[in-house]
Amino acid sequence: MDRNYLAEDPYSLALGDIDPAQPILFQHDTMWPYFERLRREAPVHYSKAGMFGAYWSITKYRHIMKIEANHEVFSSDVKYGGITLRDQPLDFVLPMFIAMDPPRHDAQRAAVEGIVGAPSLAQLEILIRTRAQAVLDNLPIGETFDWAKKVSIELTTQLLATLLDFPWEDRRKLTRWSDVATAVPGGGIINNEDERRVELLECLGYFTQLWNERVNAPPRGDLISMMAHSDATRHQSPMEYLGNILLLIVGGNDTTRNSITGGLYALNKFPDEYSKLLADPSLIPNMVPEIIRWQTPLAHMRRTATRDFEFEGKKIRAGDRVVLWYVSGNRDEEFIPQAHRLIVDRDKPRRHLSFGFGLHRCLGERLADMQLRICWEEILQRFGRIEVVEEPQRVFSTFVKGYVNLNVQIPANAVRRH
Ligand code: HEM
Repeated sequence: MDRNYLAEDPYSLALGDIDPAQPILFQHDTMWPYFERLRREAPVHYSKAGMFGAYWSITKYRHIMKIEANHEVFSSDVKYGGITLRDQPLDFVLPMFIAMDPPRHDAQRAAVEGIVGAPSLAQLEILIRTRAQAVLDNLPIGETFDWAKKVSIELTTQLLATLLDFPWEDRRKLTRWSDVATAVPGGGIINNEDERRVELLECLGYFTQLWNERVNAPPRGDLISMMAHSDATRHQSPMEYLGNILLLIVGGNDTTRNSITGGLYALNKFPDEYSKLLADPSLIPNMVPEIIRWQTPLAHMRRTATRDFEFEGKKIRAGDRVVLWYVSGNRDEEFIPQAHRLIVDRDKPRRHLSFGFGLHRCLGERLADMQLRICWEEILQRFGRIEVVEEPQRVFSTFVKGYVNLNVQIPANAVRRH
């Protein structure tokens, strides 16, 4: 008989039956007590019967840091399965540098690191601000609309198109490919792996044209040109190119998108914090990392043990999947007081795991930080309290922790002159 995860009481299950890696729990936002219990009673925990096979759950902040720091034992390499719970299918392997170990990882990462260098960020800042202004100036007043669609998706897709110098009129394709790449079959985006392959191969076809244009042109500041002109990536195979493109698309898309949505949702859940912010917009730079912690847009990364290893008294075997639950580490009260609350003036807000840790720590961190800061600066210039009018629908995934929609209203009396 199929297990009904939504009907279970996480506190009355036998510890061995706890299996938090179920998309339905994330879709209903009901995974929290499972992680609370694991942090308290079994912080290094083995689930025998996961949706994608057996796996270890690491749920405490300091344990996640320890594993991330030990990349020789806990590998990200796609040849062991990669960085998500679902192993990459062997007949459709997509190598990408987030799923590589040194030295290949380091060389490929270095090929695109210029995108977050100071000159690139200074240029992008102007563009991001102008675009945020245009999007916010066009929002409807006094009527319900979907913030995720009109603001979050719009702004992040625009940024991604700029980073890749992607044809502007086709930029919505980027959103679609990102959704397809991370979707769980049957969750509303794709029905099966074949559908995923067909669309991802279309993506490869499109990007191959862009590559061919850029490889023979002088180097420019976009991500495709950077890869086409670097020794580390110039000779990558088509599947590796597709893998790296998807990494950049997913990395720059779902994550920032769900932070923009999650921030407004969280401020509505904690109205006193919203009041604090409205009274003092200089809190924005502090609030941004706090939003990213509270939201935790990527719920986990996975590693695979390359050899038998004893960790915190448990025997992890070579080949075992090890899931680093950022979503749980970011609520670990031993490390973060009142972790379930959004506190816009929290002390040391950058102490969180949302960007990971160690050699794979997020490449786009400064970009994400800047985009959110500008977005909130421009919002507060224009509007007072924007009201969430109903609970959002959430994504069916244990990897991307985000929203399908967020219906809001900007009351007429919340519009400020600027
Ligand atoms: C709030 C926004 C974001 C969050 C929460 C986020 C989260 C993460 C996480 C958790 C990792 C893996 C870290 C690890 O394994 O230790 C990662 C890696 C990465 N992210 Fe982000 N990310 C965000 C925005 C971005 C943006 C805007 C880009 C830009 C294109 C980006 C590009 C990447 C890349 C390329 C990697 C792979 C780094 C490596 O393997 O060395 N991310 N990100």
